[in-house]
Amino acid sequence: MNPAVSDYLQTHQDQFLDELKTLLRIPSVSADPAFLPAMTQAAEFLRDQFVGLGFTTEIVKTAGHPIVYAEWLNAPGKPTVLIYGHYDVQPPDPLDLWTTPPFEPTIRDGKIYARGATDDKGQFFTHIKAAEAWIKATGSLPVNLKFVIEGEEEVGSNNLDQFLESNKQKLKADVAVISDTSQYAPGIPAITYGLRGIIACEVTLTGPKKDLHSGIYGGAVANPANMLARLIAQLHDDQGRVQIPGFYDDVLALTTAEREQFAALPFDEKAFLNEVGSPATWGEAGFTSLERRWARPTCDVNGITGGYQGVGPKTIIPSKASAKITCRLVPHQNPEKLLVALEAFLKARCPAGVTLSFQSNHGCPPFVFDPTNKYIDAARTAITTAFGKPPVLMREGGSIPVVATFQQILGLSTLLLGWGQNTDNLHSPNEHFTVADFHRGIHANAALWPELPTA
Ligand code: BES
Ligand code: ZN
Repeated sequence: MNPAVSDYLQTHQDQFLDELKTLLRIPSVSADPAFLPAMTQAAEFLRDQFVGLGFTTEIVKTAGHPIVYAEWLNAPGKPTVLIYGHYDVQPPDPLDLWTTPPFEPTIRDGKIYARGATDDKGQFFTHIKAAEAWIKATGSLPVNLKFVIEGEEEVGSNNLDQFLESNKQKLKADVAVISDTSQYAPGIPAITYGLRGIIACEVTLTGPKKDLHSGIYGGAVANPANMLARLIAQLHDDQGRVQIPGFYDDVLALTTAEREQFAALPFDEKAFLNEVGSPATWGEAGFTSLERRWARPTCDVNGITGGYQGVGPKTIIPSKASAKITCRLVPHQNPEKLLVALEAFLKARCPAGVTLSFQSNHGCPPFVFDPTNKYIDAARTAITTAFGKPPVLMREGGSIPVVATFQQILGLSTLLLGWGQNTDNLHSPNEHFTVADFHRGIHANAALWPELPTA
């Protein structure tokens, strides 16, 4: 890599980390309106970063949280890279499980702890700092860059498609790059070529018009909490297969080659159980844990509620019970079709004595890329330079809605270059990002751009 750029990266590590801390102090929780002012604050912080680098920059208002758009197009004849990230973060709850407060970034054991450290502030910031290194050290960039940093990824990216649709021309690029996934394991960097999709809903069962005395009325009216448990229990059979009719119809089967490739990755079941803290693995019969997580669809209750949740007993038949349910989808399952199938399944089995209401939420399609596309080699070279090891190819179980829409709306393939670890506690208390991975990520981005082939 360009020696002046390398030098800049080396000598500015502390400054990069300080700036990341400033960004992490902004509590940009997209799901909760109480944090609204922080969304603007985060967008303005990013705008100022880009303005400082000479990018043409704007904060784009949407029906939800703003999008930060920035471009630098002074490398005629060179490829154009569209970089995506999200400045919104998950709610920090439960707060009492954090060792240090979620919005007071703290470094312990070489890791920076804060909500958003790895998902996704620390990760997308690596691209901004790589751009800074090139511009400050050489006065220029080896490619054209366009940045889209949104504030609604953690709540389903509902207003992003409209932005992409109405700015197709402006967003034209050769390839997209996203750092919002994980490495395979510590010391094993990765390029991710597949993500699962998702559908989400909330189902509510209502029985009596108010909570009832369970002695006076119990046994004579349907209890919505009991009925919800019965309904949820029907979602899987004993083999862990989802029972929604047609659920597996469009599932792309794993090829023998892909199964072999997954099986060749180091996977220690004991270490995996230790990582998650469960006493045993569980899942669809006939598949390994990696296959279940990366290439098989699921149906999960994310939250369930109903009846008395306070201290001590309370003898009632609750009036209502509800569950938040999501299904992770794999190629070529269709989110719209499966949302209809899920609703029909629940309604068809709704027990007598309660009424059911179904509220659909966000969704996005699954994705796999051809892992031999022409940009992968450039990424492999850059990662090897920065991490000292070649990356493995992997899929991931999580979802990033924009990846499918980049393809659909802009015709773009995405390089998913994640610098995090799955053990970074994303969406959990004590989220963190390894400081060395932050710096290696910046290095890899800076090394990637000159490697990218022209269209
Ligand atoms: N960064 C994650 C996705 C991710 C994490 C993919 C680790 C692979 C490995 C992203 O921010 C996320 O959490 N996405 C949501 C999307 C949903 C709300 C539509 C998800 O997967 O739950
Ligand atoms: Zn996330």
